[in-house]
Parts: sequence; C-alpha cells; structure tokens
Amino acid sequence: MSHDLLSATTRYCAVLGQPIRHSASPAMHNPAMAALGLNWRYLAFEVNPRRLPQALEGCRAMRFLGVNLTVPHKLLALPLMDELDETAAQWGAVNTVAFEARDAAGRWRPLREFEGTAPDEIRTRGYNTDADAILRALEEDLAFQAAGSRVLVLGAGGAGRVAALKLASAGASEVFLVNRTTSKSAGVGDEIVRRFPATRAIADYPEGRIDLVVNATSLGLNPGDALPLDINRWSPGMASKAYDMIYRPAQTPFLALAKNAGCQTANGLGMLLYQGAKALEIWSGKAAPVEVMREALRRQVYG
Ligand code: ATR
Repeated sequence: MSHDLLSATTRYCAVLGQPIRHSASPAMHNPAMAALGLNWRYLAFEVNPRRLPQALEGCRAMRFLGVNLTVPHKLLALPLMDELDETAAQWGAVNTVAFEARDAAGRWRPLREFEGTAPDEIRTRGYNTDADAILRALEEDLAFQAAGSRVLVLGAGGAGRVAALKLASAGASEVFLVNRTTSKSAGVGDEIVRRFPATRAIADYPEGRIDLVVNATSLGLNPGDALPLDINRWSPGMASKAYDMIYRPAQTPFLALAKNAGCQTANGLGMLLYQGAKALEIWSGKAAPVEVMREALRRQVYG
C-alpha cells in the first residue's frame, strides 16, 4: 500500500520525545495510515522538555490531528492538556493527545472531521493508551487472563507502577512487587490497597506457583545487565508465563531464563503495537490495521 504524494491537504500526527532517534512509531504508523487510505503522515520530533508547551502549541496552530508523547513528556503533559480523558486521569500520564474543534452545533469533534478552513478554537484532549496496551499484550501474546491471577511485577518505576495497577484493576488476586528501591514498590503496594482493595499487594517475592512474572525494569536493555530478579528467589516452574517490557533485544537474559524454566514468554513489542493501534483509532475513528502495524514494527526493530 503506498501513500498519496505529500500535498497541501496532507495532515499530520507526530511523536515528541527526547531522545527520539530510535523511535519505531513512524515506521509503524505511516504504513497503517496508508493502509487506511488516509493522506496523513506521522513524524517524529526531538523536543526538550522545557519546550514541550511550545511544541504542543505549534502542533495545535498547524492543525496536527494528534501527537504521541514519550520519555520524558508523559507526566509533564498532564497539566498542559485542556481536557483529560479518564484513561489519562486514571493513570496519571498522557501518551496520546487528540486535537478537537467545535462543530456547527457547538460540540467538540476530532480534528479529522474538519477539512478546509480551520476552526480557530482547537483544544487538546489527553489520553493514556499504555495501560490498556499492557493488558492487551498479555492477553493476546500470552493468553493471560488477569482475573484471579497471582502475578509478580519486577520494577516500580513509571511502567512497573502502571502494570501493577492495571493488573489489580483487571482482577488479579495477588500482586507481588519487587524493586531495587523498596520504598517505591511499597508505594505501589499502598496505591493498590487504596484503589483496588480486592487485590492483595505484597512487596516481596511470592511463595508457590504464580501465573505471570513481568519485567518492568530497564535491566536487559544493555549487554551485561544483571537479571531483574534475585536468582536465589527464583525457581524453575515458579511462573507459567513471563513477559518482558523490553523488545530490543528481542530476548533478554530474563526471558531466556524464563524460557529455559518452561515459561511461555513474550517481549514488549506487543505493548508498543497496541498503544499505537489505540492512538490511531482515537485520531482516525477507524479500526487500526493491527497486522500491518505489527509487520512494520517487526521489520523496523528486528530488520
Ligand atoms: P520506566 O518509565 O521505564 O518505568 P523508570 O521509572 O526510570 O522508567 O523505572 C526504571 C525501573 O528500572 C525502576 O524500577 C528501577 O529501579 P529503581 O526504582 O530502584 O530505580 C529499575 N532499574 C533501573 N536500573 C536498575 C538497576 N541497575 N538495578 C535494578 N533496578 C534498576
């Protein structure tokens, strides 16, 4: 599927981040936009966090349809939004922004519905598509069902916190939390107890068999990294499924260990895919061509 030529009617989306050079999002979104028959393009911009307000204002002024935000902008963007979708409010981070304008009846509509002369007043609505993507990746890539499950989450940074909370919100019965900085895993445990009291939160390794272990630390990104878990607290057969949020390299030492122990495993490519698919659905109002996006991502990331 090839794109129409760039013209004065081409419309734009973009990802803003710092660093941005290694983002796979343009490679995933442009073929998807073409497959949907849209003369849209998806760009990537390196934006210093100090300039995020100006960058978003520029996108608004130039009638971009939407933007994705990545490191380090997801928290900074919260107070900059005119409106917060409940997904952004619930998870306290914005990774997708949609631009909206008022129709003749005064209702706010996505900007794609306005062609020709621009409505002057455009507002931003912030969404979070990361949290749902975690669960969708676990469901589709590992056939994992959260309801009633026992899970171990390694890492309590931004990604680990959202994964643990999302699993609790989806009905996990027990969430075990392990992090180098124990005050952070304890904090996530407290948040689970407060927000999802049906789930038990335990800031320690599990006893007995669990359904899933998730690596949400950055350990495994670089050659020679330590394992994200204490090998003395891990036994083969401890977990039936293992997920690593890292997708480059395709198999981290953690995933190799889990695979050797008989776990069903998946890496983080699915999370990247599903957060992007949902963002494209928000901007376009159409079902995302997920398989086109998956293939494009695979080619970009693994060559
Ligand atoms: P992200 O948004 O990707 O979650 P982050 O918030 O910086 O990024 O979180 C990184 C995670 O990797 C944290 O759980 C971090 O542990 P700390 O909370 O103790 O910092 C973990 N991590 C990073 N480097 C680590 C290392 N060398 N050893 C153990 N854990 C590490």
